Amino acid sequence: MTNVRVASTDEIVQGKGKEFDVKGTKIALFNVGGKYYAIEALCRHQDGSLAPGRTHGEIVECPLHSWHYNLTTGKLIDYVDGVNLLTYPVKVEENQIYVEI
Ligand code: FES
Repeated sequence: MTNVRVASTDEIVQGKGKEFDVKGTKIALFNVGGKYYAIEALCRHQDGSLAPGRTHGEIVECPLHSWHYNLTTGKLIDYVDGVNLLTYPVKVEENQIYVEI
C-alpha cells in the first residue's frame, strides 16, 4: 500500500465526484462537505461509473440505474445483499489529495 497523489482539493467540487486511474484501478473521488472519499469507480451492476453520481450525505447513487453505495464502507445499501466496493483511505495535505492503494 502506498499513498498516491490523485488531485488537488479544488479539482473536486463540493457534493461531486471525479474518476481517476490510480495504479491501474479506476477510483471515484468524492467531496462531501469538505471531506473526501475514495471508492472503486465501477458499479457492480453493469460497470457504470459512480463518479458522476449524485451524493446524499455519505451515499452515492449510480447514475445509470440508481444503485446506492455507502462511500465509507463501499456497501451496496439496496436491492442485493453482500455487494461491496472497495474503499480507500484518503488524506489531504497542503490542498493535495492522497489515496492509499
Ligand atoms: S450500472 Fe450502476 S446501477 Fe446499473
